[in-house]
Order: sequence, then structure tokens, then C-alpha cells
Amino acid sequence: MSHFTYVNGKLHAEQTALDRIAAKFGTPTYVYSRASLTENFLAYASACQMHGRGQQGALVCYSVKSNSNLAVLNLLSKLGSGFDIVSGGELERVIAAGGDAKKVIFSGVGKSRDEMRLALTHDILCFNVESIPELHRLNEVAASMGKRARVSLRVNPDVDPKTHPYISTGLKENKFGIAFEDAIPTYRVAASLPQLDVTGIDCHIGSQLLDDAPLLEALDKVIELVDQLQDIGINLHHLDIGGGIGITYDQELPVAVGDYLSRLFTRIDNWRAARHNGKSITVLFEPGRSIVGNAGVLLTEVHYLKHGGNKNFAVVDAAMNDLMRPAMYEAWHGVKTVNERTAQAKVYDVVGPVCESGDWLARDRSLAIEPGDLLAIMSAGAYGMTMASNYNTRGRAAEVLVDGDQFRLIRKREKSSDLFALENI
Ligand code: LLP
Repeated sequence: MSHFTYVNGKLHAEQTALDRIAAKFGTPTYVYSRASLTENFLAYASACQMHGRGQQGALVCYSVKSNSNLAVLNLLSKLGSGFDIVSGGELERVIAAGGDAKKVIFSGVGKSRDEMRLALTHDILCFNVESIPELHRLNEVAASMGKRARVSLRVNPDVDPKTHPYISTGLKENKFGIAFEDAIPTYRVAASLPQLDVTGIDCHIGSQLLDDAPLLEALDKVIELVDQLQDIGINLHHLDIGGGIGITYDQELPVAVGDYLSRLFTRIDNWRAARHNGKSITVLFEPGRSIVGNAGVLLTEVHYLKHGGNKNFAVVDAAMNDLMRPAMYEAWHGVKTVNERTAQAKVYDVVGPVCESGDWLARDRSLAIEPGDLLAIMSAGAYGMTMASNYNTRGRAAEVLVDGDQFRLIRKREKSSDLFALENI
């Protein structure tokens, strides 16, 4: 259920009116709902439990890149989440937020030696390795520290996820993963390296998938490989199916997380019963968007209404540097007025103050607004703040976490002096 609803004509996050937050902390501000974050995480965790997979049988490793605020990570960690990271910086965040490094998996094609060292120091659960040179580098770094590294190979199942090309990752032409036909030889290399323990297999085919059919197709291919590996004496303890299900931005109807997991676990259980005497395998997930996406909005104020030759523009105080998704992927985000108005609506492009024609947040929206009104850009909790920049020397937005009728600042708004603090004349 949505925790962003109108109560007496005012848009609320849970029981908190959004205009209270704007009055206290200004705009633009990202606002997240604790109840929504919790429910979305539990959709995965409870489905795992329902299928008899407690702590050992499954682990939800929240994908930190989607929203890495310490308060969000702390909340998810308390709910039992592990974490999927793609940099040493994300590992430091997880630790600073009180997360358990032993539940961290490290994804990404370009891990540096320093990042490997940091992750080995904290004894993370697993490195998701994407190439033979990376295996050699990890082996060397582990040897230099007198440690062993647990590894999983990210295989590329060449399945079309039917999503935006920029967020497809499992096709032959994508830079990610190890080509399916090279998987077995690469596993042989991994198994031959003295400091590596080969523990798993993983894949990730893309993001914002509405249907689970491509994910189940990828699973079938991964299962095939696990069996072939067993035949050559490489026994895996875990299987990681990558990111989560997509979300509703507009009219999309994503499959329910519980239904997807139920189909996935049924397939895995049947396979294990048929070929592995029922011996279970731990299943890992790396969802991001479906946990945070609809748990957040970007609150912004209308500065000016401007009537161009062909279009009406609502110039607001949030911009592409705050929410990059429309400029980058032509992504659609809902726009709601915080105070419901009955006045006549006009069609506007909602644009920011940045000097780029690509600086728009929404196009052709019917809105009844006046300067000074507050708008909420919906479904902005995932890949919003984490992709924000300081372009045009704009400080990044504040972040607020709502819990019922309480709310607190979880990241201060950046000041200009913060932005040039590391520079010298
Ligand atoms: N695991 C890996 C290896 C990934 O590459 C990703 C996302 C995830 C997990 C999390 O996937 P999710 O559950 O969020 O679908 N900036 C883009 C999305 C990029 C996604 C990249 N990988 C956007 O704003 O739509």
C-alpha cells in the first residue's frame, strides 16, 4: 500500500503532512516513509520465510546503490538485511550504518586493489567476480594479506529482460558478467587459485523488470551450470539471482514480489529434489528499487510559472542534479500537488533551474498550481539521491525520514561552502 496519500486535501507521508516538512527543512527535500521501507523489505524476507528459508536458506542483500542514506541502511540492517555493494565507499557506509559486513556481497566489474583489501579486512560474505583478471587480482591481494576470499562468478545468461536499454545488464552486448559459454573454464581458473574459495554463482539481467519470466529463464540457465559444475567437482553453496522486481511509476503492473519468489523457490525446490537428493542451496537476492523506490518522494516548490511559445513551464527548485532519471532515461515520475487545488488546471512541463534543456522532471502534466505551491515528485526513493550531483554548484537536497506523525532530518542540505571545501586556489 502507498504511504503517500491525501488526508483532508493535503498530501501526507504516513501521518505527516508534507508541508510541515517543507516548512521545517525547506525544499528540495527527499522524504522517505519508514513504514513503506519496512513493508517493502518484508515482502522479500517474509516470502523467504514462508518457503522455509530462514537465516541460512536465503539472504536479501539490499542493493545499496539505489539509496545509500545511513538511516535507510540502518533500518534495513535492523530488519535483518544483508547488502549488495559496488564500491569500497558503499562498504564503509554499510559499516557506518551498523550493517553486518559478513552479510555483504561485492558486485561490480572494476574492483580496485584497495577496495578488495578493505572488503577482505571486513571478511565480507562474497565477491561477485566478473572476469579472469579480477580473479587473479583478488587471489594476489588475498595472498598478500594471508587471507582467503569467497567468490561467486557473475555469469551472463544472455536473457532479454525487456527493460530500458541503459538498465539491461544480462545481454551478450553488455559489459557485465562472464559469457555463458566461458563460465565453466572460468570456474576452473577460480578453483585453481589457492587463496579463493568458490562458493556461489550469480547473475543480474537488468532493472525495472515487471515480469518474472526473464528472471526464471535466467534461473534455469544458472541451474544448468550449477549441475555441470558439480559434475566437474565444483560444489556451490549459494545461488544469487540479482536485483528485484520493478515498481509502478505510472500504470505499470509489476508481478507481486511474493508471487515471483514463490515461483522461484518452487523451481529451485523441484530441481534440488530431482538432482541433489533434496539438499538445499542458499538463495541470495539483490533488490534495490522495489524496496526504496515507492518509499520516497522529492518535495519541491514552484518558483515561477512561465508561458513559452508552445508550452507552459512550471519552474521548480528541484532539478536534474537532484533527480537525474528523467534527463538520463526519459523516466516518468508522477507529480502531485501537496495541497489539492480545485482551480483550473493547465498543462505544464515541470523543469528545474539548471542551464540545460534536458533539465526537466516531468512533461505535459495537467496541474492546478500557483507560484509558491509545493509539489511531490513521486516514486523518487530509488536512484534519486544516490545519482544526484552538484552540477551548477547546487548543494544536494536534504533527506527526511518519516515515522508516523514524526519526522527527522537524516541528511542536511549541502551549503555552497561544503561544495568547494576540498578545493584550493
Ligand atoms: N544487483 C546488481 C548487480 C545491479 O546491477 C543492480 C542494479 C541491482 C542489483 C539492483 O537492481 P534493482 O532491484 O534496483 O532493480 N539508475 C537506474 C537503475 C540502474 C540499475 C543498475 N543495477 C535507474 O534509475 O533506473
